[in-house]
Amino acid sequence: MGIVLGIESSCDETAAALVTTERVILAQHIASQDEAHRPYGGVVPEIAARAHAERLAPLIAATLGDAGLTLADVDAVAATAGPGLIGGVMVGLVTAKALAMASDKPLIAINHLEGHALSPRLAEPALAFPYLLLLVSGGHCQILLVEGVGRYRRLATTIDDALGEAFDKTAKLLGLGYPGGPAVERLAREGDAKRVPLPRPLVGSAEPHFSFAGLKSAVMRAKQARTDEYTDADIAASFQRAAIDCLIDRARRALANAGPVTALVVAGGVAANQAIRVALEGLAAAHGLPFVAPPLALCTDNAAMIAWAGVERLGQSDPLDTPARPRWPLDPAAEAVRGAGVKA
Ligand code: KG4
Ligand code: ZN
Repeated sequence: MGIVLGIESSCDETAAALVTTERVILAQHIASQDEAHRPYGGVVPEIAARAHAERLAPLIAATLGDAGLTLADVDAVAATAGPGLIGGVMVGLVTAKALAMASDKPLIAINHLEGHALSPRLAEPALAFPYLLLLVSGGHCQILLVEGVGRYRRLATTIDDALGEAFDKTAKLLGLGYPGGPAVERLAREGDAKRVPLPRPLVGSAEPHFSFAGLKSAVMRAKQARTDEYTDADIAASFQRAAIDCLIDRARRALANAGPVTALVVAGGVAANQAIRVALEGLAAAHGLPFVAPPLALCTDNAAMIAWAGVERLGQSDPLDTPARPRWPLDPAAEAVRGAGVKA
């Protein structure tokens, strides 16, 4: 049995986990920074980097302590080396390098997106390559063909906002606070999705990508319109319906073009949305495919997915001068898309 220590610090979660080659999460800790960023309505990079620096070392010690292990017991130290907010990535990667050097264990530098892409295999041992993955979070909005470890074809990305970002901005417009996704989903349950006419950007388009900026602007106009024809709940429900229509249309197009796949898989924080899960489940069923959505704790940013990517890459050893990368495309061959470089 092998054991990998995983470290995640690329956005606003500081996390450490120990995962075995047998897919057992021996221990994990996640410190969320929601409170620290809430007054600003979004993640402030400098605050995030400082919080990671303060919390990471004790959090790793607690994780090892919970499992009753020391560094001598682990087979490798895996850490997110990008893409993400560079200050935070540096804190995690430098810590991993120090631990690897001190314990004479291999360092495995993990692409955060690969962590998300492989996490469904931690939860679902039967999930075989190739699978079609919708990676939908606050920072990422991509459709990937996952062909194997290290073999990813990006079939689509967003040309402006990520899906989670659209939820967060809608929440802000409706005064629902941060993070906005869960709040929009809750309010949407009380509203009528047919009440507010909103656009479905790129639906039916021959190009494969996503766009949510026009939807966000339309939500803003709907909110500003002084009318008693609809409520904030109707706006939330109509927004969520439009977003789902976009997601399903793009996923359907990707399925038609990807070739044979074993499953339709969703990962990333937005995968927590029940209405989205139900819609994707229906799409998978219509294509005769299993639908795989990891447990919520594995969908949002966490270190178990980084440790698991390390397990999948066990045997690899990255040099101690491996750089922290603010941008690191999973599929370097994918064409640059207008605006999309901002996210990944
Ligand atoms: O994966 P994640 O924790 O961090 C990033 O890598 O971005 O995803 C966080 C994103 C946020 O935009 C949040 O609003 C969204 O996931 N999210 C949701 C829901 N829960 C979280 N969006 C829609 N519905 C939800 N229930
Ligand atoms: Zn993420």
